[in-house]
Amino acid sequence: MRIPLPVVSALVAAAVCSNVAPMSAQSPIASARAYRFADSVLALMTLDEKLGQLAQTPGRGTPNGPLVPVGGEALIRAGRVGSYLGVFGAEYTHELQRIATQESRLKIPLLFAFDVIHGFRTIYPVPLAQAASFDPVRVEYSARQTAIEATAHGLHWTFAPMVDIARDPRWGRIVEGAGEDPYLGSVMAAAQVRGFQGGANGVNIGANDALLANVKHFAAYGGAEGGRDYNSVELTERTLWETYLPPYEAAVKAGAAFVMSSFNDIGGIPAHSSDWLLQDVLRNRWGFKGVVVSDWGGIGEMVKHRVAATTGEAGILAIRAGVDFDMSDGIYADSLAAAVRAGRLSEAVVDSAVRRVLRIKYALGLFQDPYKFSDVARERRYTLAPEHRAASRIAAREAIVLLKNSNKTLPLRKNLRSIALIGPLADDARSAMGNWPADGRSSETLSVLAGIRAAVGPSVQLIQVRGSPVDTADTTGFAAARTAASQADAVVLVLGEREDMSAEAESRSSIEVPGSQVALARTVLGFAGSKPVVVVLMNGRALAIPELAREAPAIVETWFLGSEHGGAVADVLFGDYNPSGKLPVTFPRVTGQIPIYYNHRSTGRPPDSTKYTSKYNDLPSTPQFPFGYGLSYTTFAYSNLRLSAAKISASDSLTITVDVRNSGDVAGDEVAQLYLRDDVASVAEPVKSLKGFQRISLRPGETRSVTFRIGPSSLALYDRQMRRVVEPGTFTVYAGTNSADVISTQFEVTGPVLVLAPPTPRFH
Ligand code: NOJ
Repeated sequence: MRIPLPVVSALVAAAVCSNVAPMSAQSPIASARAYRFADSVLALMTLDEKLGQLAQTPGRGTPNGPLVPVGGEALIRAGRVGSYLGVFGAEYTHELQRIATQESRLKIPLLFAFDVIHGFRTIYPVPLAQAASFDPVRVEYSARQTAIEATAHGLHWTFAPMVDIARDPRWGRIVEGAGEDPYLGSVMAAAQVRGFQGGANGVNIGANDALLANVKHFAAYGGAEGGRDYNSVELTERTLWETYLPPYEAAVKAGAAFVMSSFNDIGGIPAHSSDWLLQDVLRNRWGFKGVVVSDWGGIGEMVKHRVAATTGEAGILAIRAGVDFDMSDGIYADSLAAAVRAGRLSEAVVDSAVRRVLRIKYALGLFQDPYKFSDVARERRYTLAPEHRAASRIAAREAIVLLKNSNKTLPLRKNLRSIALIGPLADDARSAMGNWPADGRSSETLSVLAGIRAAVGPSVQLIQVRGSPVDTADTTGFAAARTAASQADAVVLVLGEREDMSAEAESRSSIEVPGSQVALARTVLGFAGSKPVVVVLMNGRALAIPELAREAPAIVETWFLGSEHGGAVADVLFGDYNPSGKLPVTFPRVTGQIPIYYNHRSTGRPPDSTKYTSKYNDLPSTPQFPFGYGLSYTTFAYSNLRLSAAKISASDSLTITVDVRNSGDVAGDEVAQLYLRDDVASVAEPVKSLKGFQRISLRPGETRSVTFRIGPSSLALYDRQMRRVVEPGTFTVYAGTNSADVISTQFEVTGPVLVLAPPTPRFH
């Protein structure tokens, strides 16, 4: 059965994050039948078989594709493995399911999981880039196609979406999420869950192209102190609830089947042992009915956190807290049976976890047909399907952010005689795929060089010179770069990071463009004279680019865009597509300005030109580029910001309308953004918070009225008792093209405080 591709409008999708129904009984995972079925199977199981169901074992890569580790088949026959990670292929998973369901005692099918983060074989933009599109419909569509490809290869479960808010771009994994904002992060989280699973609330789980979503890393992994991966997180409960938890909640409420716990501790409690996170928040407050999986090795690492003396104790802590699946540690399988027999762990705790896993397998329909995902014909049909590549190209174009365009340097003419393509990343197709390429291939990915060549055809001479390495001080290539720059009609400088520099365990103490690349740009700019020079950035985080921002005539942020990277870049460079992406993260001026994010709290001494205010004395207090920023080849003018009412009660909604006019001379897309500020509240609130956005297309001269509906959930805050409330008083509304460049008006909320939710469960 094919699930239709999403047809939701941007408006509906944007509304989903605050108004989703909780995972309802419609989800097959939570059906009464699934519960009954799980009980009936559980009653037949030995303790070892139960623990087998909780074991997820990594596969091993071979030149002919992934395989289970040596001895894996025997483990399956013995019922000692519930899931494989990184094992896929229609034929091979068919054979493994045959062993599981014909040669093991209880015939329980396997689950196949993999990190299918932004594409399986067709690769879409990295998640940070997808967030830059501010287009949840497109993001949902990319996830849908990804699910279609992945499930055709026998996969049931992806370890995505990663929804960790990150306010520190030194953290390499910022590339895997939607950036710094909880509202944007929530919209993108829910869109991905719907896309992977083929609809909201898990209703399509069981279709053979619904890929189970796994929200991660729960929780606040992106809050790592100093941006060092795996580091401790120190956050107030208020900031957790306001900023870090909303995207996980949105994913859960969109029906994500899995949650992965995070490597970090929060205030001394490792997430893998946090019953506050896994019970009080996740299951009790949010009603999560799915399965919790550990992150790779995360259970055993509690020994290094020094909250457990042995891995066996760590296993007890984790399963008691609510971690159901043991990813790769083997600790549950190795030590929990002894713990149960010694009376140190109740078997009922194991039973609860096993029931949840069995419910998922039942909901997928694997007990009825274990081979439904292992279909060679589907695999052939959907691998790198042309319609997937075409959609990846659109997603890639939308993710590109134009940061600077002095004197209309861009777009370039296609009929130039020659273009110098300079920089270490210009022909790097591997980096274009990003750091989670799943089964993607560099040979099937368009580098910038390949994209430009395809765009301009054979008559334009392309002079390609690397000029420098990505991350060392070598300058020996500068001379050739200078020659190329002086010979060509235009220069495209492709600079930034390799994909492996912004990824897991890839934190950087400096977020400047690495190595000698800035010096390369300096020398090229010096030799290019008045000819057009465009800097194309490839990177997976916010970068600090003070010199480039000052000196380069044009700068295009392209992130890592996947299979169609080079094609999409060429579309923008030559004006076949008018850039429309917006920054999902603030770009600081220098590394030392971190953390800098637009929705910081109001301080008692906001920065100004006087001495005793909150700022650095050696820097402007503004960032290089604010959140939500992105230019176009046209311009947009905002006016006539108006409200459906000047006063509402706390339980009411109002509509906010703003006119957006294309004031330039080419057609373009704009992301109209809406921010709110609670002017006086019982706690110090952010200076402004994103509450809505809409992507619109406007012809030159055209004006469109854009309307947002704002209700109690957008006005609420956590009060001093940590209740979610709407407080009376005035609110300022801001609308504009980015978080800094806005027009504003005010309305008033009257009457008594409205309590939307009781106090949050207290952290313990
Ligand atoms: C560790 C990473 O933290 C997580 O994001 C990933 O899904 C697992 N490894 C599995 O590869």
